[in-house]
Amino acid sequence: MAKYEYILGDSSYEVKRLAFQAGVWRDMTEGLFDRLKVGPGWKCLEVGPGTGTTMLPLARRVRGKGGRLDAVERSPRYAEYLRRKTRGKPYAHVRILEGELLDVSLERNAYDFIFARWVFLFLPKVEEHLRHLARALKPGGLLAIEDYHRDPMAIYPRLPTWPLLVTADRAWFASQGGDLNIAGRLPKLFRRVGLKTIEITPHTKVGSPKTDVWRWAEAYFIGYLDQIAKFKPFTPKTAARFKREWLAAKRDPDALFISPMILDVVGRK
Ligand SMILES: C[S@@+](CC[C@H](N)C(=O)[O-])C[C@H]1O[C@@H](n2cnc3c(N)ncnc32)[C@H](O)[C@@H]1O
Repeated sequence: MAKYEYILGDSSYEVKRLAFQAGVWRDMTEGLFDRLKVGPGWKCLEVGPGTGTTMLPLARRVRGKGGRLDAVERSPRYAEYLRRKTRGKPYAHVRILEGELLDVSLERNAYDFIFARWVFLFLPKVEEHLRHLARALKPGGLLAIEDYHRDPMAIYPRLPTWPLLVTADRAWFASQGGDLNIAGRLPKLFRRVGLKTIEITPHTKVGSPKTDVWRWAEAYFIGYLDQIAKFKPFTPKTAARFKREWLAAKRDPDALFISPMILDVVGRK
């Protein structure tokens, strides 16, 4: 494999998609921060914050009593955006570290809390990335990852091209060493890097074509269809068929999209 390429990039389309996605799943992440009682004074690191939809609220949570938030982001465009967003005094405790996670040197035993949402599914060498983060956690510190267990995803009516789409999408991620079902592998990998899994919480959403969860799925599967179509068993022709089937399903009053499962997996050092 050539150097890892982050397959979704940082186009204006992706910026908008991330903003919409953040609204759909906001409660999931806020709920995780609440359960873990993340608050003022915590020293935190977020990996892959993108446009900061979880990073900015996290920064506000930990502000005060010596609280700190570092963020490692590989995209120069997102990193610049985050630097601009955090220029003011309320964000004086925030630092943007631009670069690939493995290339950024992190202080050892420094963080109370490390967080990553929808980042590990893209990464090759997951254990190496986790080891890097585990070293940076204080003893007793927490690593929380929100990521996919993609298999439960489904659509009704059952579209004939759906299984082809799912396989091609998985192949797109795998082309860069990623895994759309990464979440279920995390507890074992946590153990290998010296973390004890203390929480696994599942999330899913189900909705008709009129709901945000359907629109969220469409923004991904229709928005990135040209890229997915480059991977077997899809072809441009089957991709076009999938699009027709999807659009027809939207007119079905009983249509349903069942989201991938997302797991919050939390480990303690
Ligand atoms: C799907 S986006 C998720 C953004 C954000 N966490 C959210 O939930 O909205 C994945 C983000 O991870 C970043 N990323 C991917 N691989 C990375 C790496 N190796 N090091 C640092 N950031 C990375 C991408 O640039 C992108 O901003």
